[in-house]
Amino acid sequence: MKLSLRGVGKSYSGRRGETNALSPLDMDVREGEFISLVGPSGCGKSTLLHIVAGLEPPTAGTVDLDGERVRGPGAELGLMFQQQTLFPWLSVRENVRFPLTLAHRRSRGGAGDAGRQAAQVEGLLRLVGLWDFRDSYPAELSGGMQQRAALARALVGQPEVLLMDEPFGALDAQTREEMQELLLHLIQRHRITTLFVTHDVDEALLLSDRVVVFSERPGRVLASLDVTFTRAARSSELKLDEAFLHQKREILALLRGRPRTATQRDRLLLGLTNTRTEGGS
Ligand SMILES: Nc1ncnc2c1ncn2[C@@H]1O[C@H](COP(=O)(O)OP(=O)(O)O)[C@@H](O)[C@H]1O
Ligand SMILES: [Mg+2]
Repeated sequence: MKLSLRGVGKSYSGRRGETNALSPLDMDVREGEFISLVGPSGCGKSTLLHIVAGLEPPTAGTVDLDGERVRGPGAELGLMFQQQTLFPWLSVRENVRFPLTLAHRRSRGGAGDAGRQAAQVEGLLRLVGLWDFRDSYPAELSGGMQQRAALARALVGQPEVLLMDEPFGALDAQTREEMQELLLHLIQRHRITTLFVTHDVDEALLLSDRVVVFSERPGRVLASLDVTFTRAARSSELKLDEAFLHQKREILALLRGRPRTATQRDRLLLGLTNTRTEGGS
């Protein structure tokens, strides 16, 4: 198993007492698997990602990566967040190279691999379509371009696991779709184990092998659904597929605490004209 979570839970203690953020949970992630985490705001999704990243200790349980206990942040994990996290004073290319510079300093030497690193940075900049903007600064880029740079930076250390926390949440619908296509393309080429937090059920179904649905805070796993569309079938078109819509309805019902019954409201939200209710509500 690539990632193994056992009894991982978290409560924060602050001035106003304890906040129970995450109920103890078990989760196994296979090598190359892409898992989306969906759930109501405040249910502990970011907390879970921070724990897996080693940025925050759990109050209960353990996280193992390739059989080794995660005790702190490391280069095995690539991180990408919703907030713009590029360094404004570095160019696009310097931002993407930055994690390598850090790793290089830590290992004090290996000057010989500077050329290999430069080639790796170039390859990634080309992959995300930013080679022509390599010398631009973050403020000169659109939101989508900034997130493409952040994606390249998350990948540059060739991480074992990619952790993405609503990475496209702040983008407009069209840019978001472009980023989804880019990520799909990337997944098809390099099967990289990914935990992906999103509010967007369409996005979760389009990208994932499995969608894990969380309850309200303190988050616990309500369901873990396999998504079986072939990789080749994954494109924006898929969002109109009947089987896709069926799974979407199922997840939306779970999120609203009304499992497995498509209601009139779901149908309206899904934009279906047939408003006949099944099972009623
Ligand atoms: N550093 C922190 N200190 C105290 N409480 C926190 C901290 N981080 C998150 N929380 C609380 O933990 C709960 C879960 O937060 P979070 O993991 O950010 O949820 P989500 O990402 O699912 O929206 C929330 O109630 C939030 O206020
Ligand atoms: Mg969050």
